[in-house]
Amino acid sequence: TATDKGAYPYYMLKEIDEQPAVLRRLLTAYVKPDGHVDMPANLLNALAAADRLYFVAAGTSYHASLAAAPMFEELAHVPVSVHLASEFGYHMPLLSERPMFIFLTQSGETADIRQVLVKVKAQHLPTLTITNVPTSTLAREADYALSLHAGPEIAVASTKAYTAQVATCSLLAKALGEYKGVAAAEQLDLFHELSMIADAQQSQVDEKEVIHTIVKDALATTRNAFYIGRGSDYYVALEAALKLKEISYVQAEGFAAGELKHGTIALIEKDTPVIAIITDPVTAAHTRANASETAARGAKVITLAAKGLAAPGDDLELADVHPLLSPLAAIIPCQLLAYYTSMDRGYDVDRPRNLAKSVTVE
Ligand code: G6P
Repeated sequence: TATDKGAYPYYMLKEIDEQPAVLRRLLTAYVKPDGHVDMPANLLNALAAADRLYFVAAGTSYHASLAAAPMFEELAHVPVSVHLASEFGYHMPLLSERPMFIFLTQSGETADIRQVLVKVKAQHLPTLTITNVPTSTLAREADYALSLHAGPEIAVASTKAYTAQVATCSLLAKALGEYKGVAAAEQLDLFHELSMIADAQQSQVDEKEVIHTIVKDALATTRNAFYIGRGSDYYVALEAALKLKEISYVQAEGFAAGELKHGTIALIEKDTPVIAIITDPVTAAHTRANASETAARGAKVITLAAKGLAAPGDDLELADVHPLLSPLAAIIPCQLLAYYTSMDRGYDVDRPRNLAKSVTVE
């Protein structure tokens, strides 16, 4: 059943493996037989009326929001800003004239988000909750709600909800772009792109032993680790570092690769693991140069690069996918890096210390 881990040692591994199926389920749920994305007309109408979308989220869902923002900007030509719920509620920025709020939340119960929802509803501003739990508080209290269709997520560290959030946002961005007549949205064959990504994700979970070998070589005993990338790869780096921190207690950070030279590179010592994520043709050479700079200072560089950008000596090839969608492919090896590091160190992967699945206090 959906809440039984079956032959899996941990829910987290089961949930990592479920990601291709979740993506295909989302396509069934949101794509019509003629290839058009099916989203409620009143929701599209509200989104099209907005002059800026404000994503408000926490934790992994915040990282999914960062990945989603450029989709709405490029495919639907609407400016987007992304905020941490715990900050936004008390230090609200000056809002645009016609804002719309999008709450991305696995549980739909996060208290930091609810206090924002209450405040913006008091100002009669439109709200959408995108959640894995359609009966949740935030789904019921927002004007509109969309479901992530990921099935119950039991492991504290979020995996399949993240990819479901990124994929659902791509579908919504495409639908909004088509509704507004934006050429970039009309020209993108999103059904095809996401179907290919589901296949690529399947290969990644089928070949997970490669990742276990990388963990044994580079992450077995380290006290810290750094993930670097640019653009969407930077957002993946943030989520990858959070995964590793949460369950293996390795002090991990995600950095914008170009910022290393402005301070961070001081942290690099002999054998410090630096995981470079490279999927964007525009910045690939720059990120590679940044990784080399850390190698020259003794770092153990692990490179995850898209096939079309691969170089000899790379540790893992990622599928070539549309740049806006690359987090859907790039995050899976990073989830597995965290999983094996935690498991090999003998921790309870599903129930990390000090953390809760859903945080219902501010
Ligand atoms: C908790 C969980 C995180 C999650 C965050 C936001 O801190 O441990 O995994 O990302 O809450 O949760 P939400 O349900 O709003 O996505």
